[in-house]
Amino acid sequence: MSLPKRVVLVGPMGAGKSTIGRLLARELGYQFLDSDRLIEERCGANIPWIFDVEGEDGFRQRETAMLAELAEREGIVLATGGGAVMKPENHACLRKEAKIIYLRTSIEQQVERTRKDRNRPLLQNDNPEAVLRNLFAIRDPLYRQLADIVIHTDRKSPRLVVRQLINRL
Ligand code: S3P
Repeated sequence: MSLPKRVVLVGPMGAGKSTIGRLLARELGYQFLDSDRLIEERCGANIPWIFDVEGEDGFRQRETAMLAELAEREGIVLATGGGAVMKPENHACLRKEAKIIYLRTSIEQQVERTRKDRNRPLLQNDNPEAVLRNLFAIRDPLYRQLADIVIHTDRKSPRLVVRQLINRL
């Protein structure tokens, strides 16, 4: 089996990118990286703080810079933020020598898995479900367009998703 140099996970908030990414990296003997956590480390502040102080635009600029940096790394499984696909200039960085996996997840599961979460500024409002639904309508076509592999994660354990993915890499 010849493995891709980089495996990149895309999909909405609550898709399980970090959990599945960590397990997949362990199975492949790759390093697991999470672009959101790296942005936070670089900035010395968490995502809600970045959104508060610099706005979503500020966060997106940091995200674009981080994805460009990470495009140079090999032997990694990268979990991206749900909005990483929104800027067309990010696409080449995501694609570079990578197999892109879209973790497709129903709105119900996204809602369930992000409930009580305080670290996602876009969902801190009265109707997070409506936000997730709107984002999904805009982003699902982009995730599909970029993905080499689309896998459904509803009603599957992270372990099962990883086993199914390894057979398809
Ligand atoms: C975002 C998703 C978050 C994070 C930020 C914005 C989005 O990442 O990047 O809060 O626009 O969907 P996760 O998908 O890992 O929650």
